[in-house]
Amino acid sequence: MNESRFTLDNRLPDDYFTSSLHRDVLHGLSASPRALPPKWFYDKRGSDLFEQITRLPEYYPTRAEQEILTSRAPEIAALSRAATLIELGSGSSRKTRLLLDALTGGGTLRRYAPLDVSAAALEEAGQAICRDYPGLRVTATVADFESELAVSEPSAPSQPSGEPSEERGPRLLAFLGSTIGNFDPGQRAAFYRTLSGALSGDDMLLLGADLVKDPKVLVRAYDDAAGVTAEFNKNVLHVLNRELGADFDPDGFDHVAVWNTEDERIEMRLRARAAQTAKISDLGLTVDFAAGEDLRTEISCKFRRDSLTAELRDNGFTLQQWWTDPAARFALLLATPN
Ligand code: SAH
Ligand code: AVI
Repeated sequence: MNESRFTLDNRLPDDYFTSSLHRDVLHGLSASPRALPPKWFYDKRGSDLFEQITRLPEYYPTRAEQEILTSRAPEIAALSRAATLIELGSGSSRKTRLLLDALTGGGTLRRYAPLDVSAAALEEAGQAICRDYPGLRVTATVADFESELAVSEPSAPSQPSGEPSEERGPRLLAFLGSTIGNFDPGQRAAFYRTLSGALSGDDMLLLGADLVKDPKVLVRAYDDAAGVTAEFNKNVLHVLNRELGADFDPDGFDHVAVWNTEDERIEMRLRARAAQTAKISDLGLTVDFAAGEDLRTEISCKFRRDSLTAELRDNGFTLQQWWTDPAARFALLLATPN
């Protein structure tokens, strides 16, 4: 039964690794300072490590966003009246269940459409949601949300009863966890514009955004005592070793989390413990690191209400609702496309 209500559509191009990863590594390791985009963390091990991060005492964003969703999901359901919930970067979809409960309770939701670059995460989460929400179709898409948004309707399912396809009505597009913070301002502007262009007048954007706060709290959240975030950070080197025949020594680098005051963002870096050389066979590339040299692996921008409202306004969205957790650590907002 599950099979007919669950589809997994892989839209990553066949040459995704040979094109995108090659390009990102060639470009990122020859840049100054060296940097890689964070999407390459998320193989199966990286996705599992991120799930462990969400349970760490220091990593408050997941719990804070969950608090907001717990109290606001019924309002979100009533305001959006969504027939389809699209979610970008859905991962385990754990918090999403609060939305699914409210939207199915409200009687509007017919389809959940998670999209993630991690096929393993989608397969596991999608099957479980299909099992737990008997009336729901789950149409999962493996894709890179920077190049393929896939917010369109899926091809019509076979309808043995001859009933018309049921997915009509408003869509709610959720982008949770402050994954938006992993983009710089220019990437965010382009992303909002693409989203705004893809949504219709009765659709809504639900965006989770982590807020600026005491840098000590922020640095602790990205440099936990148990070392899980350090493992997550170093996982990108394991990915490069496996996918590109590279010989990075993950133990040759320290995990570093730095608060960048000017740009109001946490930067995760891998800092060479000593001078060393890495060979990346598939690219024919040799990279020399000086002792203490950093490779930036992620930015995690933190937000303020006024500037986030303005960047949305300037790029095709009007803010409708702004909610925070009681400690005002994290914001969840609803916006409509202009
Ligand atoms: N939304 C979940 C997971 C956040 S972790 C939460 O709030 O807990 C970020 C998720 O985005 C991961 O599942 C990762 O695989 C996915 N991701 C990162 N970059 C991506 C990209 N470019 N395209 C699609 N998914 C991406
Ligand atoms: C997915 N993303 C929003 C997380 C963040 O907080 O930037 C990834 C993460 N990196 C380190 N810890 C968690």
